[in-house]
Amino acid sequence: MSDKFAALKAHHAKVADRKILDLFGPGAGHQARAHQFSARAGEMLLDFSKTNIDETALGLLLTLAESAGVVTQRAAMFGGEKINETEGRAVLHTALRAAEDAVVRVDGRDVMPLVRAIRGRMVAFVNDVRSGAFKGQGGPITDVINIGIGGSDLGPAMATIALSPYGDGPKLHYVSNVDGAHIADTLKGLDPETTLVIVASKTFTTIETMTNADTAKAWMAQKVVNPAAQFCAVSTAGDKTTAYGIAPERVFGFEDWVGGRYSLWGPIGLGVMLSIGPEAFGEFLAGGLAMDRHFLTEPLATSMPVLLALVGIWHNQICDYATRAVLPYDQRLSRLPAYLQQLEMESNGKRVSMDGVDLPYNSGPVVWGEPGTNGQHAFYQLIHQGTRVVPCEFLVAKQGHEPDLAHQHLLLVSNCLAQSEALLRGRSLQEATAIMAKKGLTGAELDRQARHRVFPGNRPTTTLAYPKLTPFTLGQIIALYEHRVFVEGVILGINSYDQWGVELGKELALALQPILEGKAGTDGKDGSTVALVSYLRI
Ligand code: F6P
Repeated sequence: MSDKFAALKAHHAKVADRKILDLFGPGAGHQARAHQFSARAGEMLLDFSKTNIDETALGLLLTLAESAGVVTQRAAMFGGEKINETEGRAVLHTALRAAEDAVVRVDGRDVMPLVRAIRGRMVAFVNDVRSGAFKGQGGPITDVINIGIGGSDLGPAMATIALSPYGDGPKLHYVSNVDGAHIADTLKGLDPETTLVIVASKTFTTIETMTNADTAKAWMAQKVVNPAAQFCAVSTAGDKTTAYGIAPERVFGFEDWVGGRYSLWGPIGLGVMLSIGPEAFGEFLAGGLAMDRHFLTEPLATSMPVLLALVGIWHNQICDYATRAVLPYDQRLSRLPAYLQQLEMESNGKRVSMDGVDLPYNSGPVVWGEPGTNGQHAFYQLIHQGTRVVPCEFLVAKQGHEPDLAHQHLLLVSNCLAQSEALLRGRSLQEATAIMAKKGLTGAELDRQARHRVFPGNRPTTTLAYPKLTPFTLGQIIALYEHRVFVEGVILGINSYDQWGVELGKELALALQPILEGKAGTDGKDGSTVALVSYLRI
């Protein structure tokens, strides 16, 4: 482990037991900490003052980021260098939201003309579908099914829900699971004659997606004479989309320098664009670009993605908190935790450094969460009183989309703030005893009951606050998390852009299929798998 990590560990050991609340200091000065331990990006505010990070820790964390080469690596990523070394690829999802006049080179070739051309084709197609110029056999398109999985599903599905107040196009449905239940339930009630299917797969080989696409095609063929005419494809594999029978004018390609979990900004966002229209989609891209500019120009010490990453490193690698809860107090961000699970865990869930050496520290945390206030009535019990510390990351908008329900938004915001306050302050045994004594308890029963009502507090949280969940804001938020993952990955010295860890299970699933069908024997399989096969074989 580097001396920088060791210095942070040593500092943490010294301060681990102190009260975060005390860091705020007494009297009017207590707001100074909130100011010092927060960041602004445009109109967004990230408050990380309710963590145990002090000036020394922040200084050490910033030195760690500097010495890890965040600035050099950032230039390498935006400059089209092949920082995804195990796949020999550049990492350029930022090109998909770059400025109109940007020049971005990969292997000496400017990729922006292609990016603009494909976006232009997407816009034309989306306008045709939304205006009714593009028709299904039964007339204008009423419903769109996006069939994809992982990065070809989670991003657009999350964004479609997040931006539903802007959704004035056809109704979007997302099918990902190979479980036939998913597509069967989705197709129920849809009219094949007015449905458009997007087959979204970077590789166009993913078994879940191709199987669901076949099912959708067969469903459509029952009523539609030429089902392929109501299919479009989003992929890097033009040859395979053609072989699948999808006409090139309805194929929207992208290049291998866009990773699946980073692909929402380009053709994988087709479903989102169909739902909210090209203009609002353009605002989403502008939000991402605004965050890119912030990331590129702001010094590390005031950069929101860098600071968010450093909070992550502090909690995960230094304090050894194994998980990170993402808690949006914004119902329309209900799929953000699932989206971030892939973004963060597929990116930074690695066991070796870039040069193949075992990591001397933990890699990325387990990311999970649910929207508030629902989570409060489910798992917050453990967050407040469980024996493990779970750093919580709250997200909340100043304003909702329902002016008539402003009183509900007020309740939502007060709940969000109450949770971070409760986690910070806790409730001492003395306070709990006073409360229970007022209720008339005395003696041993008072003591016993009071103990159950103690909140240890001192549990770290961050809050990301933004004006309103608009397309622009969503773009900022998603780009913020992408860059956070990048910075954490650079500090850990890992490749955040491959995903070899998903391969073994895929291979074994292929081999198990004939075994389950009774076409192959179980030789070489472990005893547990053999027993489960014998139970599950039909
Ligand atoms: O299995 C993991 C994965 O490769 C993800 O990285 C990717 O987002 C997903 O599968 C889907 O891949 P594709 O878009 O090629 O179908």
